[in-house]
Amino acid sequence: MATSPLSSLLLLTIVILLLGQGGVHKIEASHEVYKGYQSLETIPPKFQPYRTGFHFQPPRNWINGPMVYKGIYHLFYQYNPKGSVWGNIVWAHATSKDLVNWELQPVALSAAEPNMDINGAWSGSATILPGGKPVILYTGVNSKNQQVQNVAVPKNTSDPYLIEWTKPPQNPIMSPTTQNQINSSSFRDPSTGWLGPDNIWRVVVGSKIGRRGVAILYKSKDFVNWVKDEKPLHSAHGDGMWECPAFYPVSVGNRNSVDTSKSSHDLNVKYVLKMSLDDIKHDYYTVGSYSYHTDVYTPNKGSIENGFSGLRYDYGKLYASKSFYDGEKNRRVLWGWVNESSSVDDDVKKGWSGVMVKLNVQTPFYGVLLVEYLDYN
Ligand SMILES: *[C@@H]1O[C@H](CO)[C@@H](O)[C@H](O)[C@H]1NC(C)=O
Ligand SMILES: *[C@@H]1O[C@H](CO)[C@@H](O)[C@H](O)[C@H]1NC(C)=O
Ligand SMILES: *[C@@H]1O[C@H](CO)[C@@H](O)[C@H](O)[C@H]1NC(C)=O
Repeated sequence: MATSPLSSLLLLTIVILLLGQGGVHKIEASHEVYKGYQSLETIPPKFQPYRTGFHFQPPRNWINGPMVYKGIYHLFYQYNPKGSVWGNIVWAHATSKDLVNWELQPVALSAAEPNMDINGAWSGSATILPGGKPVILYTGVNSKNQQVQNVAVPKNTSDPYLIEWTKPPQNPIMSPTTQNQINSSSFRDPSTGWLGPDNIWRVVVGSKIGRRGVAILYKSKDFVNWVKDEKPLHSAHGDGMWECPAFYPVSVGNRNSVDTSKSSHDLNVKYVLKMSLDDIKHDYYTVGSYSYHTDVYTPNKGSIENGFSGLRYDYGKLYASKSFYDGEKNRRVLWGWVNESSSVDDDVKKGWSGVMVKLNVQTPFYGVLLVEYLDYN
């Protein structure tokens, strides 16, 4: 492209103006991007054609446990503080009042404790307990490189920004043992909990047995002491590892969204089981029925469940998605991590990798979910 001296001067002026704004690159996105936190120095913004203007974009990201608390939206994401490739994984944290403009917060969960997570604080989910108290369940990789599940709670629940988190000494609260025969390299990504009418919490954790993808079911009365159920919530042969399993209700026949722990006997409620297939890096789901009495989930007839030919939220690269019920707006917001197609070399050069996208999960129609862009009004 030929550039006239005048337009070069104009461009230079714009760049100077942008660089003059106290280290905040306003050009980068509608949320503020802080140079000190992101590795944007690698390539100046004008040579960053792939950075998006709208999506949440830290240097390296992966979905964790989104939620809304006291009117503030929280996004926790997998983050490598040392580079733009995968590794050194911690839970980074950002907050927003509108899901568009984001403020970066300090790391929420670092990789620190030998028996919990010294080799990585991997994916997990947030749950809001009755009374409005948030809690995080996440996978830690311990000093023996085993995947275990830990719980974390906010230090100060009066702080709507939930800046500091503590890991109670009871951790890890779920571990692979010789009795339970869980594969310690394939045991991760606890879901958001759902509370039954029996006042018992349930969560699923992703796993595999041979080639069978499994959503292991755990139950608890207090969210700290968990007992593995004899049978999984669901499993499917041939899928390989199920990462980031998610299980949540959706209403049928109207557009109301449903809180994860609400209802069950309502005929107008169906359940969605989503899994992220590690082998092929796509998110698949089924819609079906679920009973708290038996803890059996039965996909609808005709709802294909063998992942490779099943239903997807998205037919691009959306992966490892998580959703939360947004009581403020009566909607279910789904966050997904989108891996671009750039090579690791390019990611290192760019200084970042990955974007987050958000969608609105709607009522299923003939067993197929209606997933649409969020309405920001
Ligand atoms: C807890 O958070 C509230 C609200 O931000 C603040 O006023 C209070 O000082 C905090 N308490 C402690 C012990 O930090
Ligand atoms: C456990 O999972 C790891 C990681 O996928 C795999 O390499 C290994 O073969 C599995 N072990 C068994 C006994 O299936
Ligand atoms: C991310 O993208 C790279 C390059 O396209 C690919 O090799 C890698 O498997 C992808 N990872 C996921 C989780 O999609």
